[in-house]
Amino acid sequence: MSNFHRDNIEPRSVVMAVLTTVLISIGGLVEIVPLFTSAGPPPMDGIKPLTALEITGRDIYLREGCYVCHSQMVRPFRSETLRYGPWSRGGEYVYDHPFQLGSRRTGPDLARVGSKYPDSWHFEHMADARQTSDGSIMPKYPWLFEWTIDPAQTQATMLALSRVGVPYTEAQIASAPADMKTQATKIVTGLTAAGYDTTEDKEIVAVIAYLQQLGVNARASIEAEQAKTGGTK
Ligand code: HEC
Repeated sequence: MSNFHRDNIEPRSVVMAVLTTVLISIGGLVEIVPLFTSAGPPPMDGIKPLTALEITGRDIYLREGCYVCHSQMVRPFRSETLRYGPWSRGGEYVYDHPFQLGSRRTGPDLARVGSKYPDSWHFEHMADARQTSDGSIMPKYPWLFEWTIDPAQTQATMLALSRVGVPYTEAQIASAPADMKTQATKIVTGLTAAGYDTTEDKEIVAVIAYLQQLGVNARASIEAEQAKTGGTK
Protein backbone atom coordinates (compact mmCIF):
# COMPACT_ATOMS: atom_id res chain seq x y z
CA MET A 1 0.00 0.00 0.00
CA SER A 2 1.47 3.33 -0.99
CA ASN A 3 1.83 6.03 1.60
CA PHE A 4 2.32 9.43 -0.02
CA HIS A 5 3.27 11.23 3.17
CA ARG A 6 5.80 8.64 4.30
CA ASP A 7 7.41 8.17 0.87
CA ASN A 8 7.42 11.72 -0.53
CA ILE A 9 7.35 14.18 2.34
CA GLU A 10 8.97 12.67 5.38
CA PRO A 11 12.28 11.78 3.66
CA ARG A 12 12.65 15.39 2.38
CA SER A 13 13.55 17.37 5.44
CA VAL A 14 13.26 20.79 3.75
CA VAL A 15 9.80 20.07 2.35
CA MET A 16 8.79 18.65 5.71
CA ALA A 17 10.07 21.77 7.52
CA VAL A 18 8.28 24.14 5.12
CA LEU A 19 4.98 22.29 5.38
CA THR A 20 5.25 22.10 9.19
CA THR A 21 5.84 25.86 9.33
CA VAL A 22 2.84 26.54 7.08
CA LEU A 23 0.64 24.35 9.23
CA ILE A 24 1.72 25.89 12.52
CA SER A 25 1.32 29.39 11.04
CA ILE A 26 -2.29 28.65 10.15
CA GLY A 27 -2.91 27.55 13.72
CA GLY A 28 -1.31 30.73 15.04
CA LEU A 29 -3.15 33.06 12.66
CA VAL A 30 -6.51 31.52 13.49
CA GLU A 31 -5.84 32.37 17.15
CA ILE A 32 -4.30 35.79 16.71
CA VAL A 33 -6.11 37.51 13.81
CA PRO A 34 -9.56 37.61 15.46
CA LEU A 35 -7.99 39.39 18.47
CA PHE A 36 -6.94 42.30 16.26
CA THR A 37 -10.42 42.77 14.88
CA SER A 38 -12.45 42.05 18.03
CA ALA A 39 -13.69 45.06 19.99
CA GLY A 40 -13.12 43.25 23.29
CA PRO A 41 -15.66 42.91 26.09
CA PRO A 42 -18.20 45.72 26.53
CA PRO A 43 -17.74 47.92 29.61
CA MET A 44 -19.30 46.42 32.71
CA ASP A 45 -22.38 48.28 34.04
CA GLY A 46 -21.28 51.18 36.22
CA ILE A 47 -17.68 51.22 34.92
CA LYS A 48 -16.78 54.80 34.03
CA PRO A 49 -13.53 56.41 32.91
CA LEU A 50 -11.55 57.67 35.91
CA THR A 51 -12.00 61.29 36.98
CA ALA A 52 -9.20 63.76 36.25
CA LEU A 53 -7.78 63.47 39.78
CA GLU A 54 -7.99 59.66 39.77
CA ILE A 55 -6.25 59.38 36.41
CA THR A 56 -3.50 61.65 37.79
CA GLY A 57 -3.09 59.21 40.68
CA ARG A 58 -2.98 56.36 38.20
CA ASP A 59 -0.13 58.06 36.31
CA ILE A 60 1.77 58.31 39.60
CA TYR A 61 1.03 54.61 40.28
CA LEU A 62 2.64 53.80 36.91
CA ARG A 63 5.58 56.16 37.46
CA GLU A 64 6.37 54.64 40.87
CA GLY A 65 6.10 51.10 39.55
CA CYS A 66 3.54 50.01 42.15
CA TYR A 67 2.54 47.27 39.68
CA VAL A 68 5.89 45.59 40.30
CA CYS A 69 4.59 44.46 43.69
CA HIS A 70 0.81 44.73 43.27
CA SER A 71 -1.54 42.96 40.89
CA GLN A 72 -5.01 44.24 40.08
CA MET A 73 -6.82 41.04 39.27
CA VAL A 74 -8.75 38.79 41.62
CA ARG A 75 -8.58 35.27 40.25
CA PRO A 76 -11.66 33.05 40.30
CA PHE A 77 -10.56 30.91 43.25
CA ARG A 78 -12.28 30.67 46.60
CA SER A 79 -9.11 31.63 48.48
CA GLU A 80 -8.99 34.84 46.43
CA THR A 81 -12.65 35.80 46.53
CA LEU A 82 -12.73 35.29 50.31
CA ARG A 83 -9.74 37.56 50.74
CA TYR A 84 -10.32 40.23 48.11
CA GLY A 85 -13.95 40.08 46.98
CA PRO A 86 -15.63 39.16 43.67
CA TRP A 87 -13.24 37.85 41.02
CA SER A 88 -12.34 40.28 38.24
CA ARG A 89 -14.36 40.49 35.01
CA GLY A 90 -13.03 41.56 31.60
CA GLY A 91 -15.51 44.44 31.37
CA GLU A 92 -13.84 46.14 34.34
CA TYR A 93 -10.67 46.90 32.41
CA VAL A 94 -12.04 48.49 29.25
CA TYR A 95 -10.77 51.97 30.12
CA ASP A 96 -7.50 50.77 31.69
CA HIS A 97 -4.71 51.60 29.21
CA PRO A 98 -2.33 49.92 29.76
CA PHE A 99 -4.18 47.52 32.07
CA GLN A 100 -2.64 46.95 35.50
CA LEU A 101 -3.36 43.23 35.91
CA GLY A 102 0.23 42.79 37.04
CA SER A 103 2.12 39.55 37.31
CA ARG A 104 3.65 39.69 40.76
CA ARG A 105 2.17 39.87 44.21
CA THR A 106 4.89 40.87 46.62
CA GLY A 107 2.09 42.93 48.17
CA PRO A 108 -1.64 42.13 48.15
CA ASP A 109 -3.89 42.45 45.11
CA LEU A 110 -5.35 45.96 44.82
CA ALA A 111 -8.26 45.36 42.41
CA ARG A 112 -10.80 45.78 45.25
CA VAL A 113 -8.87 47.97 47.69
CA GLY A 114 -11.12 51.04 47.13
CA SER A 115 -13.02 52.09 50.27
CA LYS A 116 -11.39 49.30 52.30
CA TYR A 117 -9.53 51.87 54.44
CA PRO A 118 -10.11 55.53 55.30
CA ASP A 119 -8.11 58.16 53.37
CA SER A 120 -6.05 58.77 56.52
CA TRP A 121 -4.87 55.13 56.50
CA HIS A 122 -3.48 55.54 52.97
CA PHE A 123 -1.91 58.86 53.96
CA GLU A 124 0.04 57.19 56.77
CA HIS A 125 0.72 54.00 54.83
CA MET A 126 2.27 55.80 51.84
CA ALA A 127 4.44 57.89 54.17
CA ASP A 128 5.67 54.86 56.09
CA ALA A 129 3.97 51.48 55.57
CA ARG A 130 5.38 50.19 58.85
CA GLN A 131 3.19 52.62 60.79
CA THR A 132 0.01 50.92 59.62
CA SER A 133 1.26 47.44 58.78
CA ASP A 134 3.74 45.82 61.14
CA GLY A 135 6.93 44.65 59.43
CA SER A 136 5.75 45.76 55.95
CA ILE A 137 8.41 45.72 53.24
CA MET A 138 6.60 48.33 51.16
CA PRO A 139 8.89 51.31 50.49
CA LYS A 140 8.23 54.79 51.88
CA TYR A 141 7.09 57.42 49.37
CA PRO A 142 7.92 60.73 51.12
CA TRP A 143 8.12 62.70 47.86
CA LEU A 144 4.40 62.17 47.17
CA PHE A 145 3.79 64.56 50.07
CA GLU A 146 5.95 67.29 48.52
CA TRP A 147 5.68 66.98 44.76
CA THR A 148 2.72 68.70 43.17
CA ILE A 149 0.35 67.62 40.41
CA ASP A 150 0.17 69.45 37.10
CA PRO A 151 -3.34 69.76 35.63
CA ALA A 152 -1.89 70.40 32.14
CA GLN A 153 -0.18 67.02 32.31
CA THR A 154 -3.47 65.41 33.36
CA GLN A 155 -5.22 67.00 30.39
CA ALA A 156 -2.53 65.55 28.11
CA THR A 157 -3.09 62.11 29.65
CA MET A 158 -6.86 62.40 29.12
CA LEU A 159 -6.38 63.48 25.51
CA ALA A 160 -4.04 60.54 24.87
CA LEU A 161 -6.51 58.11 26.47
CA SER A 162 -9.38 59.54 24.43
CA ARG A 163 -7.40 58.68 21.30
CA VAL A 164 -7.25 55.01 22.30
CA GLY A 165 -10.97 54.88 22.96
CA VAL A 166 -11.60 56.14 26.50
CA PRO A 167 -14.69 58.34 26.09
CA TYR A 168 -13.40 61.61 27.59
CA THR A 169 -15.20 64.55 26.00
CA GLU A 170 -13.53 67.83 25.10
CA ALA A 171 -15.58 69.50 27.83
CA GLN A 172 -14.32 67.02 30.43
CA ILE A 173 -10.74 67.61 29.38
CA ALA A 174 -11.24 71.37 29.45
CA SER A 175 -12.76 71.28 32.94
CA ALA A 176 -10.15 68.85 34.32
CA PRO A 177 -8.22 71.45 36.38
CA ALA A 178 -11.41 72.65 38.11
CA ASP A 179 -12.71 69.09 38.61
CA MET A 180 -9.40 68.01 40.13
CA LYS A 181 -9.54 70.87 42.59
CA THR A 182 -13.11 70.04 43.63
CA GLN A 183 -12.36 66.36 44.25
CA ALA A 184 -9.02 67.13 45.94
CA THR A 185 -10.66 69.64 48.26
CA LYS A 186 -13.05 66.95 49.55
CA ILE A 187 -10.17 64.59 50.31
CA VAL A 188 -8.04 67.30 51.93
CA THR A 189 -10.96 68.50 54.05
CA GLY A 190 -11.40 64.97 55.41
CA LEU A 191 -7.68 64.56 56.05
CA THR A 192 -7.42 67.93 57.77
CA ALA A 193 -10.36 67.08 60.01
CA ALA A 194 -8.55 63.84 60.95
CA GLY A 195 -5.46 65.86 61.87
CA TYR A 196 -3.29 65.34 58.75
CA ASP A 197 -1.59 68.23 57.06
CA THR A 198 -1.55 68.50 53.26
CA THR A 199 -2.85 70.61 50.36
CA GLU A 200 -4.97 69.98 47.22
CA ASP A 201 -2.03 70.13 44.83
CA LYS A 202 0.04 67.32 46.40
CA GLU A 203 0.54 64.02 44.59
CA ILE A 204 -0.53 62.01 47.63
CA VAL A 205 -4.07 63.38 47.25
CA ALA A 206 -4.29 62.06 43.65
CA VAL A 207 -2.89 58.68 44.70
CA ILE A 208 -5.52 58.40 47.44
CA ALA A 209 -8.27 59.33 44.94
CA TYR A 210 -7.04 56.60 42.59
CA LEU A 211 -6.73 53.90 45.27
CA GLN A 212 -10.10 54.68 46.83
CA GLN A 213 -12.06 53.99 43.65
CA LEU A 214 -10.34 50.70 42.74
CA GLY A 215 -13.01 48.06 42.27
CA VAL A 216 -15.79 50.04 43.98
CA ASN A 217 -18.11 50.36 40.97
CA ALA A 218 -17.32 46.86 39.73
CA ARG A 219 -18.10 45.31 43.09
CA ALA A 220 -21.42 47.20 43.30
CA SER A 221 -22.33 46.11 39.80
CA ILE A 222 -21.42 42.44 40.41
CA GLU A 223 -23.29 42.36 43.71
CA ALA A 224 -26.39 43.98 42.19
CA GLU A 225 -26.38 41.43 39.38
CA GLN A 226 -26.02 38.57 41.83
CA ALA A 227 -28.79 39.85 44.06
CA LYS A 228 -31.03 39.49 40.98
CA THR A 229 -29.81 36.10 39.80
CA GLY A 230 -28.86 34.59 43.16
CA GLY A 231 -25.39 33.71 41.81
CA THR A 232 -22.21 33.46 43.82
CA LYS A 233 -19.25 35.76 43.52
C1 HEC B 1 8.46 46.29 47.23
C2 HEC B 1 7.09 45.96 46.97
C3 HEC B 1 6.02 47.05 47.02
C4 HEC B 1 5.93 48.18 46.27
C5 HEC B 1 6.88 48.71 45.22
C6 HEC B 1 4.67 48.79 46.62
N1 HEC B 1 4.04 48.06 47.57
FE1 HEC B 1 2.20 48.40 48.35
N2 HEC B 1 2.40 46.82 49.59
C7 HEC B 1 3.49 45.97 49.63
C8 HEC B 1 3.30 45.00 50.70
C9 HEC B 1 4.27 43.89 51.10
C10 HEC B 1 2.05 45.30 51.32
C11 HEC B 1 1.38 44.58 52.50
C12 HEC B 1 1.82 45.19 53.83
C13 HEC B 1 1.33 46.61 53.97
O1 HEC B 1 0.13 46.85 54.15
O2 HEC B 1 2.17 47.53 53.89
C14 HEC B 1 1.51 46.44 50.58
C15 HEC B 1 0.28 47.00 50.83
C16 HEC B 1 -0.30 48.01 50.07
C17 HEC B 1 -1.66 48.50 50.24
C18 HEC B 1 -2.69 47.95 51.22
C19 HEC B 1 -3.37 46.74 50.58
C20 HEC B 1 -4.35 46.04 51.50
O3 HEC B 1 -5.33 45.47 50.99
O4 HEC B 1 -4.14 46.05 52.72
C21 HEC B 1 -1.82 49.50 49.34
C22 HEC B 1 -3.09 50.33 49.12
C23 HEC B 1 -0.58 49.67 48.62
N3 HEC B 1 0.32 48.73 49.09
C24 HEC B 1 -0.35 50.63 47.65
C25 HEC B 1 0.87 50.78 46.99
C26 HEC B 1 1.13 51.84 46.05
C27 HEC B 1 0.15 52.93 45.66
C28 HEC B 1 2.42 51.68 45.63
C29 HEC B 1 3.21 52.55 44.68
C30 HEC B 1 3.33 53.95 45.03
C31 HEC B 1 2.95 50.49 46.28
N4 HEC B 1 1.97 49.99 47.10
C32 HEC B 1 4.21 49.97 46.06
C33 HEC B 1 4.57 45.99 48.79
C34 HEC B 1 4.84 46.98 47.85
